[in-house]
Amino acid sequence: MDASSRPAVVIDNGTGFTKMGFAGNVEPCFIIPTVVAVNDTLSSQSKSSNKGNWLAQHTAGVMADLDFYIGEEALSRSRASANYNLSYPIHNGQVENWDAMERFWQQCIFNYLRCDPEDHYFLLTESPLTAPENREYAGEIMFETFNIPGLYIAVQPVLALAAGYTTSKCEMTGVVVDVGDGATHVVPVADGYVIGSSIKSIPITGKDVTCFVQKLLKERGEFIPPEDSFEVVRKIKETYCYTCSDIVKEFNKHDREPSKFIKHWTGVKPKSGATYTCDIGYERFMGPEIFFSPEIYGSDFTTPLPAVIDKCIQSSPIDTRRALYKNIVLSGGSTMFKDFHRRLQRDLKKIVDTRVRAASSRLGPDVKSQPIEVNVANHPIQKYAVWFGGSVLASTAEFYTACHTKAEYEEYGASICRTNPVFKGMY
Ligand SMILES: Nc1ncnc2c1ncn2[C@@H]1O[C@H](COP(=O)(O)OP(=O)(O)OP(=O)(O)O)[C@@H](O)[C@H]1O
Ligand SMILES: [Mg+2]
Repeated sequence: MDASSRPAVVIDNGTGFTKMGFAGNVEPCFIIPTVVAVNDTLSSQSKSSNKGNWLAQHTAGVMADLDFYIGEEALSRSRASANYNLSYPIHNGQVENWDAMERFWQQCIFNYLRCDPEDHYFLLTESPLTAPENREYAGEIMFETFNIPGLYIAVQPVLALAAGYTTSKCEMTGVVVDVGDGATHVVPVADGYVIGSSIKSIPITGKDVTCFVQKLLKERGEFIPPEDSFEVVRKIKETYCYTCSDIVKEFNKHDREPSKFIKHWTGVKPKSGATYTCDIGYERFMGPEIFFSPEIYGSDFTTPLPAVIDKCIQSSPIDTRRALYKNIVLSGGSTMFKDFHRRLQRDLKKIVDTRVRAASSRLGPDVKSQPIEVNVANHPIQKYAVWFGGSVLASTAEFYTACHTKAEYEEYGASICRTNPVFKGMY
């Protein structure tokens, strides 16, 4: 059977989590932390000074190449043994450790998806600010190490738009607000093309929400075992945090009826096995508030996310602006806080209406400004919108013609991976 008649493999590697599966599916088969645990004792043995014993060195090298784990398994191995060191190949949306990335992909393909990479086309994703060289590295690994027949590297926000869940017709003009674990980007897209000069990135991400909640809990004297405090707080955040409409009112609500709002978390101490409990109060709404009032988190960056979206649209070509305000699409796990989209829509609408009013008063009563429609879409699938968009695109017949093939790679080299055509299947 020809590879183009088999479903393509779709992998969205994120800073925190990797979503992987096959084109045409509604959900990824696996969502696992993007982390690799390598046995450092073996790696250092293979490089040790005992140069005479090449066989021992070689064997240790081979073992080091085989003895590694990814995802949850990597985390539990490193907890259980000091021999395993964790490596996070992606930082702020960019691959920084290609060796670790290659190992990670190896296990994704053979241990998780359990497929032969020579039999499937691949769709990978990248952050909108990725340098073209990085696409070459990815291409080299995919074609040379895994011998895949075809590769397409898609820009994450374009895929989130292609997920097309906002309207019955897939709309390829809009602003994607992608808030993941390690990167937050606001990306305007017109007819499937990213308006590169107007992309805005902000240094507040899902990881920062976890850190902030962790800090607040600590300051209030709540106990969480330090060994896995970050992981526990991440789960607390995902389970109990929500976006409020007004922070002062929310404090008052909590103070009036604390029992209604305080949640209890019960966990087990990893070392002693004893149980512990911790209360979660104001942290529930204070965590996600850092997107809307960033000054409560730090003084380095103080522009609220709705104002960043407004700046992004205002810096885009004038003839696209109305369409951009009308289709603001959320993507990424950190947009999942309850009522996140409502607050974003309300605050952005306020900014836009104030500007329209100011313009109207400048122009006088004879000139009437048209109101601007602001629409922030919300859907449960937004947590893996990028992956789902990839799944949709890679199941069109056109996807296979847009891919770079192994034959092209062999003829022209890795530089072909620098560009990936936007194809009609996206509309
Ligand atoms: N239900 C939820 N509510 C709030 N946050 C959530 C929820 N589910 C996941 N998250 C958070 O979303 C983040 C992961 O999102 P996502 O998988 O989109 O990021 P990523 O793709 O790994 O990172 P990036 O896109 O920044 O490279 C984590 O910080 C996680 O804690
Ligand atoms: Mg992501």
